[in-house]
Amino acid sequence: MRIDGAQAQSNFRCVECGELFEVEYAWSAGAPESKAPVYRPNPLALKHLWQERKSSTLAVDQSGVWRFRELLPIVSEDRVVTLREGDTPLYEMPRVASSLGLNWLLAKHQGMNPTGSFKDTGMTAALSVAVSRGFTWVACASTGNTSAAMAAYAARAGLRSLVLIPEGKIAWGKLSQSMDYGATTVQLKTDFDGCVKVLAEIVKRAPIYLLNSVNPYRLEGQKTPAFEILEQLEWQVPQHLIVPGGNLANSSALGKGLMEMKHLGFIKRVPKISVIQAEGANPLYRWMQNGGQGQLEPVTAETRASAIRIGNPASWKKAAKVIAETGGWVEQVSEREIALAKAEIGAEGIGCEPASAVTLAGLKKLVADGRVGQEETAVLLLTGHTLKDSEYTIQFHRGALLKDEEMAGASAAERAEFARLQRDPLVLEADVDVVLRALEKEAGQPA
Ligand code: F0G
Repeated sequence: MRIDGAQAQSNFRCVECGELFEVEYAWSAGAPESKAPVYRPNPLALKHLWQERKSSTLAVDQSGVWRFRELLPIVSEDRVVTLREGDTPLYEMPRVASSLGLNWLLAKHQGMNPTGSFKDTGMTAALSVAVSRGFTWVACASTGNTSAAMAAYAARAGLRSLVLIPEGKIAWGKLSQSMDYGATTVQLKTDFDGCVKVLAEIVKRAPIYLLNSVNPYRLEGQKTPAFEILEQLEWQVPQHLIVPGGNLANSSALGKGLMEMKHLGFIKRVPKISVIQAEGANPLYRWMQNGGQGQLEPVTAETRASAIRIGNPASWKKAAKVIAETGGWVEQVSEREIALAKAEIGAEGIGCEPASAVTLAGLKKLVADGRVGQEETAVLLLTGHTLKDSEYTIQFHRGALLKDEEMAGASAAERAEFARLQRDPLVLEADVDVVLRALEKEAGQPA
């Protein structure tokens, strides 16, 4: 691969073959054998050290990304910009597991990060690189979460940030975050893919550091949740990891992290990584259905899961490689399936944004096809917090989310599930008896 000197700072593609770069370490999987003596991490010592750091008061240790810094040698410790991201919970989902006939089911909730999405783990890494390289401006095109994360980390570091978002196509919670954290927020009259194109030209003409997920340092940070999952399962490797697919960087990053863990001797095998896309934003699914050969055909994306409304994913080749190497699958799910899955995750007391719920909707298909078995452990990667898109949730519970034609194909069981989960707020007189009567009625309904 060759880097073009003039554009080296924000051009993350090879000028000859056009492929995206990847951060390669002497010890990482696939790196060319080096004759020089290389640092080779000792799994036992590191497992212990990483745990020990959790009780330290140092900022770099309190970060669930930087406590794994032996596997992220990209900046010196004094350049790290952190909001104490990572170290997110791994929840059990007993009710959903039992309704699917699984012994157990787990959810890694990346929405519990400081700005409410998994993007923080990648942003701490790439923003720290921007600081080390002396940039004063950073920028991204976004469906809302990357921009929220970038704006926050840039503010922490005292950098200026430029956000390009598709006008009217991102959730309010996310838009408000980038304003709150002081970014220059620009709504373009186009979609996410159009914003990416405009920004690609801007970073060629202005000294701005590009923080979209084509930036390989983002992926370095985003690989750490894979380490956490293994830690949280006491290094027992789950059979399946199920990830939403948009620009396809996250599946690539988690795959990279797991491959590195295997290569370094922390684990003997890796989970199958499956990617789930919304039906209206399914270019990778289509590519797979067409035999997984040649170039991916971009689509015009349309889904209410606005975070993954992406038709031309930048990291599709990396993701396709991860899926093939781990033996996972690509599934697509409908708007109705996403809505129901999101409500089920909410009813577990966990909650997530619509794009995260595709994981459960996809898992249902993998179980139905016998690709995920009763005894197996599956981990759903929940990427965003439920408060990111509360408008979607409210519309769902008011029965105003889906159109009649979208509900038309629902089975009787599905309709019953919708009715059970929908909780439209009651409007009552401010009278104790009236409220108690309503409560009695509720108590007669299934929980
Ligand atoms: N889930 C959420 C909540 C997201 O915000 C995104 C991507 C994804 C899943 C998909 O991850 O792109 O790595 O495949 N959001 C980006 C953004 C594109 O701009 O916030 P991916």
